[in-house]
Amino acid sequence: MSTGPLLRLDSVNKVFPGGSVGLDSISLSIERGEFLSLLGSSGCGKTTTLRIIAGFEMPTSGRVFLDERDITPLRPFDRPVNTVFQDYALFPNMNVQENIAFGLTLRGISGRERLRKVKEALELVGLPDKAEARVGSLSGGQRQRVALARALVCEPQLLLLDEPLSALDASLREHMQNELKRLQKELGTTFVMVTHDQTEALSISDRIAVMNKGHIEQIADPATLYDRPASRFVAGFIGTTNLLSGVYLQRETSGIRFQLTGDWRPVVTASTELAAMPGTALTLAIRPEDIIRMKPGAPDSFSGTISSIAFHGHSLRLLVKLGNTDLWVDMPRDRADMDVREGAMIELGLRPGACCPLLAA
Ligand SMILES: Nc1ncnc2c1ncn2[C@@H]1O[C@H](COP(=O)(O)OP(=O)(O)OP(=O)(O)O)[C@@H](O)[C@H]1O
Ligand SMILES: [Mg+2]
Repeated sequence: MSTGPLLRLDSVNKVFPGGSVGLDSISLSIERGEFLSLLGSSGCGKTTTLRIIAGFEMPTSGRVFLDERDITPLRPFDRPVNTVFQDYALFPNMNVQENIAFGLTLRGISGRERLRKVKEALELVGLPDKAEARVGSLSGGQRQRVALARALVCEPQLLLLDEPLSALDASLREHMQNELKRLQKELGTTFVMVTHDQTEALSISDRIAVMNKGHIEQIADPATLYDRPASRFVAGFIGTTNLLSGVYLQRETSGIRFQLTGDWRPVVTASTELAAMPGTALTLAIRPEDIIRMKPGAPDSFSGTISSIAFHGHSLRLLVKLGNTDLWVDMPRDRADMDVREGAMIELGLRPGACCPLLAA
């Protein structure tokens, strides 16, 4: 076993018959024991990437390496990779343990050894008493666990999961997210999960590859993606953000000062790195939680009109109008007094120390 990445995609392209482009030069390294998510909206190429890793699809060009061995020409069953499909793809005519044993039988494992492994897998996913159950009698969450057990029982080096939780309701989904993460850490298996749900990706992944139109926009850990998005696309896709046009004024000890453009012209100070000349036009990405309530007349404060209020549990999300600019503002509920209501004026400013990523204008 080499010490490099477990899996490496090198300039993988996929053009489907008829000319539709599935993937546009994807290069990606996945470390051993890593939980990596492929995140992006419908049609961006997540499933295609997974199918190429699994061997169900051939790249038009580019190579796939596992342990630095070129596996591009290998058939799916010749790869130490297993897939949990979006619809689970369980065999309806088999019971739970027959489903789980199927892959072992294919690999020539039989008798006591097979039984032992099936039992272990069922315990791992918390279904030890469901061995004899028919697939049709299971709930969505239980089916998902059986699909996981079936994929894990063959001890793949790499487990691929295509939207494995999308059919589950919100509470079961959160529970299964924790289960998936726990299982992955316990087994030390490398997981690549496809999801279009950013909250899910942010909460369980070690790293996330944000995909857009067949290419990777940014690959990073959740906090880096959230705090330092590399492009407007990522800034807009991960969480809620205000993308505002501004001009770099000057550097001061407290940070970098910007004049926001449009008919709304407050000056904001951001603590961030910037290699640009004063006068440069840029886009600032400001998170709703970085905009806070200020006392009227406070330095660098600005005022707007609350046009809507949404209840978010621990906070309220306000839409505040400043001229023609709409601004999302998250306000902790204990800071929302009686005067926070639709139509009211509100004085705002940037949280001290807020780091607003700067993107090309
Ligand atoms: N077999 C195919 N033939 C032609 N085009 C295809 C084929 N499979 C995928 N595509 C196209 O490739 C692009 C990427 O598809 P893919 O299924 O990878 O998207 P995805 O990110 O998984 O989307 P979703 O979230 O909807 O599952 C899409 O434009 C799709 O129409
Ligand atoms: Mg898909």
